Amino acid sequence: MGCVFLSFASSALIILVLLSLQKCSAVVVLKQWKNTRHHHHEGGGGGGDSSGMSKSGCDLFDGKWVYDETYPLYNASSCPFIEPQFDCQKNGRPDSFYLKYDGEDMVRRLKGKKILFVGDSLSLNQWQSLICMLHAAVPQSNYKIERIADLSNFTLPEYGISVMLSRNAFLVDLVKEKIGTVLKLDSIQNGNSWKGYDIVIFNTWHWWLHKGHQQPWDYIQEGNKVEKDMNRLDAFRAGITTWSKWVDSNVDPNITKIFFQGTSPTHYNGNEWNGSGSESETCRGESRPIGGSRYPAALPKAAEIVKEVLSNMSKPVGLLDVTALSQLRKDGHPSVYGMYGERGNDCSHWCLAGVPDTWNQLLYALLLQGDTTS
Ligand SMILES: *[C@@H]1O[C@H](CO)[C@@H](O)[C@H](O)[C@H]1NC(C)=O
Ligand SMILES: *[C@@H]1O[C@H](CO)[C@@H](O)[C@H](O)[C@H]1NC(C)=O
Ligand SMILES: *[C@@H]1O[C@H](CO)[C@@H](O)[C@H](O)[C@H]1NC(C)=O
Ligand SMILES: *[C@@H]1O[C@H](CO)[C@@H](O)[C@H](O)[C@H]1NC(C)=O
Ligand SMILES: *[C@@H]1O[C@H](CO)[C@@H](O)[C@H](O)[C@H]1NC(C)=O
Repeated sequence: MGCVFLSFASSALIILVLLSLQKCSAVVVLKQWKNTRHHHHEGGGGGGDSSGMSKSGCDLFDGKWVYDETYPLYNASSCPFIEPQFDCQKNGRPDSFYLKYDGEDMVRRLKGKKILFVGDSLSLNQWQSLICMLHAAVPQSNYKIERIADLSNFTLPEYGISVMLSRNAFLVDLVKEKIGTVLKLDSIQNGNSWKGYDIVIFNTWHWWLHKGHQQPWDYIQEGNKVEKDMNRLDAFRAGITTWSKWVDSNVDPNITKIFFQGTSPTHYNGNEWNGSGSESETCRGESRPIGGSRYPAALPKAAEIVKEVLSNMSKPVGLLDVTALSQLRKDGHPSVYGMYGERGNDCSHWCLAGVPDTWNQLLYALLLQGDTTS
């Protein structure tokens, strides 16, 4: 059953905003939201803001993708800072169903705000999406963009907006020691550079799985225990628990709003969405989303761990719960239209314009909800 958006003023605001945001672009849009039976825990400790439930009981993150050709596209080739790896149209991708987006009202509401993304290349993906959205909304603006070491800094000086990206694959510390590079599950000195922002959006996951030459550490340490390897899900849980404690003891929610960018799904195993046992099928050649609002396969375990850890926090953290809705978008990845062309097959990142634009619209909706409840 669909939500009755117009029966409550506050939820009407949210849907109107979402629709006006999406006006700017394309084609596949999260438009119809479904009712859910989740109970929204008001107050009482952890994650006051962390649910995507609006007052009418709609779950912002539960919906299906519908084709809507009234949405204009933001054109990646007029986004001056797009990474070649996400510019699938330029790289020759012929279909355009995966496109969508927008942002003028967003610029107004983010006026004066300092926003920081911290995380891996999925943070890069969402950061790029947001700055393309902001730039497309105010194309005449005298924007600045610079990168110093691992920090990228996009600013719209006329609006006092800065949107930064700090590349950081694990959030917890990676330290060079005599024995080699050590991933320290209970150390988070990194956190010192995350202070003083209005909004911080964290993310980590994909690097926790890397092995061989893609694994940037030689040892993994928890307390006094130093090991060559351990269960990666346990390591991930320990790492984000350390992060959660850092947030609980360092963030003043009256000053800084914290979000966690939910686990971004990959599409390397066609068996997940096509029961015909075609395990070799990947996102390559996919040009339509999964219909309906349910992905045949389960959520990635990492997404469950994120929810567990967030539910135990004392400070409010908004979960950008994009996992399930992005699972439906097997068509949204660069595949062979990414950095390495035919030699690669990227079913992990997302084309821009594309799915991360919706993540940013949902981020925006959560910010609005926060404003109306405070
Ligand atoms: C995007 O811009 C490029 C260059 O200006 C243009 O060739 C292309 O047709 C545009 N694409 C869309 C979908 O508007
Ligand atoms: C980002 O750039 C703006 C404008 O150049 C500058 O004022 C600000 O200090 C920069 N922020 C950081 C963290 O470098
Ligand atoms: C945040 O603001 C509220 C209302 O002004 C106040 O009651 C609360 O103590 C503040 N919280 C912190 C952590 O300062
Ligand atoms: C599932 O995979 C089979 C074998 O590759 C293919 O023939 C079929 O079209 C696929 N079905 C869908 C819904 O993608
Ligand atoms: C929540 O925190 C308590 C106290 O620190 C701990 O005992 C428990 O294992 C935690 N639960 C989860 C799901 O992290």
